[in-house]
Amino acid sequence: MNLPPFKLERFFAKYEFNTEFLLCSSDCEAMSIADLLTLEADAAQKFQQVWLGYTESQGSPALRKEISKLYETLDPEHILVHTGAEEAIFIFMNTMFQSGDHIIIHSPGYQSLAEVARAAGCDVSPWLAREENNWALDLDELQHIMQSNTKAIVINTPHNPTGYLMSRADYEAVHKFAQEKDLLLFSDEVYRESEYDSAERLPAACDQGEYAVSLGVTSKTYGLAGLRIGWIATKNKKIYENMASLKDYTTICNSAPSEFLAEVAMRNRQKLAYRNLDIIKHNLTVIDDLFDRHADLFSWVRPKAGSMGFPRLLKGDVEDFCDELVKKAGVLLLPGSMYDDSSNHFRLGLGRKNLPQAVERLEEYLSKNK
Ligand SMILES: Cc1ncc(COP(=O)(O)O)c(C=O)c1O
Repeated sequence: MNLPPFKLERFFAKYEFNTEFLLCSSDCEAMSIADLLTLEADAAQKFQQVWLGYTESQGSPALRKEISKLYETLDPEHILVHTGAEEAIFIFMNTMFQSGDHIIIHSPGYQSLAEVARAAGCDVSPWLAREENNWALDLDELQHIMQSNTKAIVINTPHNPTGYLMSRADYEAVHKFAQEKDLLLFSDEVYRESEYDSAERLPAACDQGEYAVSLGVTSKTYGLAGLRIGWIATKNKKIYENMASLKDYTTICNSAPSEFLAEVAMRNRQKLAYRNLDIIKHNLTVIDDLFDRHADLFSWVRPKAGSMGFPRLLKGDVEDFCDELVKKAGVLLLPGSMYDDSSNHFRLGLGRKNLPQAVERLEEYLSKNK
């Protein structure tokens, strides 16, 4: 298998732990173990008793039960827990696809969704989200991208990096298309439950039938990336069993302390999501004001969900801008080139508490360098 470097991860490896302000993170504000344990009266005491032996490879029954509550029609046996969403992507692509398969992938997007499929020998076609359509996907295009050897469609909504939330009509049309053409639908839902208006939340893909797989994680909406707990949810036994079988060659089972903490988190997931949505919504007002003050410099399609947006720099080159900003002001923005975008976009993270201070620093920099 020949995997090229994961551009975004290499970029973060360079800056994440030595830059004062991360203004492009995709995850929400994290918390300490101590704070998480205060969510339940007996959790701290129970955590001390967690047994550090191997755990059940599909995930602890108690954790799978909590995760299954995210879905309408699934049971714990439909949940396969992984080490982050990243492991689940890797395993799904490597078990379900083989050389010669054609895969349609929502683009721009999280690199591993396309890259791992490509490394597994697939022919990958991007299904392009366009800014002029408010980052929506064009359903007519889907018909044209489809080939006789198409095996699956991969979508990500709410979307990294644009914050686009698919309309219910489009979502239903994608599902109908996948069913009619007998395709798998891999639905990356790691930002689900972070819709700014909960009435716009889409039903989980896995609830729609055996052709669909939902991907989830504790990292994003719930702000607990350090747990490294992700999962797939599907009623498709073949997918489940194939993935469980390959997982024996990657991590075998998950970290016992993380599983316990993730169980507490998922039982309290609404509190965690509300906490993070409050941060995001406050940050959005700060960004709205910033973009109003600098309408000549930035434009964007305001996100509808999640902890990111994908604004455009209207003057100068975005790579140079991000590079100078981090070097001179200690504020990290992520240039769109990490997503193979060539239209001067950058990724803006909305989920961190110190965004107002980061924006202040950005404006100081602009006042001196604009
Ligand atoms: C769309 C999407 N899917 C999957 C992942 C992987 O999540 P994790 O790093 O928690 O495994 C990410 C992380 O940024 C993501 O944005």
